[in-house]
Amino acid sequence: MTKDTVTIRNNATDKETEFSLLRGSVGTPAVDIGSLNKELGVFTFDPGFMSTASCKSAITYIDGEKGILLYRGYPIEQLAKNSSFVEVAYLLMNGELPSEVELLSFTDEINQHSMIHESLRIFFNGFHYDAHPMAMMVGVMGSLSAFYHSELDMSDPEHRRISAMRMVAKMPTIAAASHRHSVGWPFVYPRQDLEYCENFMNMMFSLPGQKYIDKNNYIDPIAVKALNLLFILHADHEQNASTSTVRLASSTGANPYACVAAGISALWGPAHGGANEAVLSMLAEIGTVDRIPKFIAKAKDKNDPFRLMGFGHRVYKNFDPRATITRETCYEVLEKFPSDDPLFELAIALEEYALKDDYFIEKKLYPNVDFYSGIIYKALKIPEDMFTVMFVIARTAGWVSHWLEMMSEPGQRIGRPRQIYTGYKNRDYSSIDNR
Ligand code: SDX
Repeated sequence: MTKDTVTIRNNATDKETEFSLLRGSVGTPAVDIGSLNKELGVFTFDPGFMSTASCKSAITYIDGEKGILLYRGYPIEQLAKNSSFVEVAYLLMNGELPSEVELLSFTDEINQHSMIHESLRIFFNGFHYDAHPMAMMVGVMGSLSAFYHSELDMSDPEHRRISAMRMVAKMPTIAAASHRHSVGWPFVYPRQDLEYCENFMNMMFSLPGQKYIDKNNYIDPIAVKALNLLFILHADHEQNASTSTVRLASSTGANPYACVAAGISALWGPAHGGANEAVLSMLAEIGTVDRIPKFIAKAKDKNDPFRLMGFGHRVYKNFDPRATITRETCYEVLEKFPSDDPLFELAIALEEYALKDDYFIEKKLYPNVDFYSGIIYKALKIPEDMFTVMFVIARTAGWVSHWLEMMSEPGQRIGRPRQIYTGYKNRDYSSIDNR
């Protein structure tokens, strides 16, 4: 028995076995239970993966108790203050911050891949104008696998690198196209002379035939700075539901564009990335500060399915550092883009009220990244049904980084969980006498 093992005893069979305790560079150690069934004839049962590590990864680390978030070891606060989304995408994908020359080359390559095939652009015509942009994102991203499949050799690191670059580069173009289709506007193509976030804002909002004004007049630098910040904050987050979806789909060797489409599907849920859109709907439903107690009571009522959207997190049990940064950014953005909609004041009051309530204190429910992000998107005139699409653009950097990491590891195995079977033991087909 050593400090680096855990002994598990099956009292039903009186058999016990020692299992290795795996330690990362930091964080909670994990018991390597791969041989548990063989050794002790039992499975583990952990449906929400509350205590299960699915892989080893060097990309992102979260300390939920201390509110720490590191991308390749760099604190999110430092990256949010000093970096850009494209530089963070490079960091997540490559493991190191780029030199000036590397960043220029990476930025150029992103711009070169930002166009989508004209045939792909026509795919949007199959959607009704009122299709949710996330439905279009899932469909069009999945369709991208049709354009990059036959000659894609996933054993070739360069093929994998280019696939990852294409997805990071094309996601804003596909996202903006989803919006333009839903409002019936002609598509705007990406430009080679605009920064990533500027390009996105231009594709989203520039009007046909509009006299192009110098970008500093046309696309406000505060808006570009806020977008870069939100994309940095949303870029990666360990093995969250959508990243785990991309990893599980990729473990079968499936086309990476199709695997990222699966990730987009998972992110859409209101328990995950769909929460930012749900927060705005919730704030609109609450309406005024005097109605906050009624909705707090609903959130606490076990018989009421209502949850305080933008609150709570599987990992953060004190505060989500991203929410802290986003709240601070709200002040700056709303100063530049004032709104007569009292959303921010309502959100601040709701947070203050909830954080004084025993239920939220006892269950360690704090605002998460989605609680304030929608307020900024709304101030930037991003439509609410595009909020989760914004999350997709940012998280694509994380998804492809995890894909690159897992595909470069030798001995990858297909993910195939087991179960506890609760159905009928054995029935005889011929015994059905009422046929
Ligand atoms: C994201 O995983 C990630 O890293 C995700 C993410 C990322 O960057 O990828 O951070 C992005 O998805 C942020 C989370 C966005 N979702 C929401 O804001 C939706 C509202 N939040 C909840 O649905 C919930 O808090 C989750 C989904 C975020 C976390 O769910 P858990 O960890 O499974 O927690 P739980 O549902 O087991 O809740 C524990 C208790 C329960 O009460 P009891 O059964 O113990 O009595 O807390 C309660 C819950 O009812 N609870 C809430 C609540 N969240 C949890 N009660 C009211 N309102 C809430 N928001």
